[in-house]
Amino acid sequence: IYKWHYSGLNRWHGAGSTADFQKIIQERCDTYTQTIRPGSRSRNCQAIRQAFMSAFISKDPCKATKEDYNSLINLAPPTVPCGQQVFWSKTKELAHEYAKRRRLMTLEDTLLGYLADGLSWCGEPGSSDLNIWSCPDWRKDCRTNYVSVFWEVLSERFAESACNTVRVVLNGSLENAFDSMSIFGRVEAPNLRPQVELEAWLVHDTGKPPSDSCSGSSIRKLKSILDGRNVKFRCMDNLR
Ligand code: APR
Repeated sequence: IYKWHYSGLNRWHGAGSTADFQKIIQERCDTYTQTIRPGSRSRNCQAIRQAFMSAFISKDPCKATKEDYNSLINLAPPTVPCGQQVFWSKTKELAHEYAKRRRLMTLEDTLLGYLADGLSWCGEPGSSDLNIWSCPDWRKDCRTNYVSVFWEVLSERFAESACNTVRVVLNGSLENAFDSMSIFGRVEAPNLRPQVELEAWLVHDTGKPPSDSCSGSSIRKLKSILDGRNVKFRCMDNLR
């Protein structure tokens, strides 16, 4: 019991890998390539599933690197047509509704974002299986876990490919609508190319007084990050 507790599969503080991970990836990939985006360049779902697995299987779940995901991302780079991107931070559901209604695209509308949405995965050195008991938690175990690094590297590539006008949906009912430690703040905003224009949509919960606005200090901070990169910025309050 001692050995199992301290070196076993249960030692991490986060939820374990999603049950049937491989099957879900394969099924989502088939659905995406055949039904959701049948016009897109045909993709080999078996190769994608295998590349996904090789990225983390048998590896130390706290030693993920961006390079681990190179082959996977090269099979399906997260790019979308110019001017259609929507970023989000603390507004996942709402941002996806907006995107859908306006025929725009979030990271979860790209193949890899769609495949991994909401899933958890990690492996274990010396084993060819996923650890279904526990996976490292970002705060309690390690930041360089495979799920966090996946979203970071995918988000980085997504932001780098932005062109023309792109949007971000931010939560104006939080004290800081812009969080410089979020993926949007740390990874996406700082990787937008010069000449891109970012339009921030600040949404507020109805029935609650707004906590942050386009003139607040968190949005000023976002503007200063963008100014430094020559990215144009517009902010719109209270979209709802
Ligand atoms: N499914 C599960 N977890 C996700 C997903 C997803 N589709 N996308 C991101 N995550 C993880 C990331 O680790 C992220 O930090 O959940 C966290 C969401 O935190 P928020 O503070 O709400 O938002 P943020 O950190 O800004 O991440 C969202 O990054 O993934 C990109 O394009 C996406 O603009 C979006 C931003």
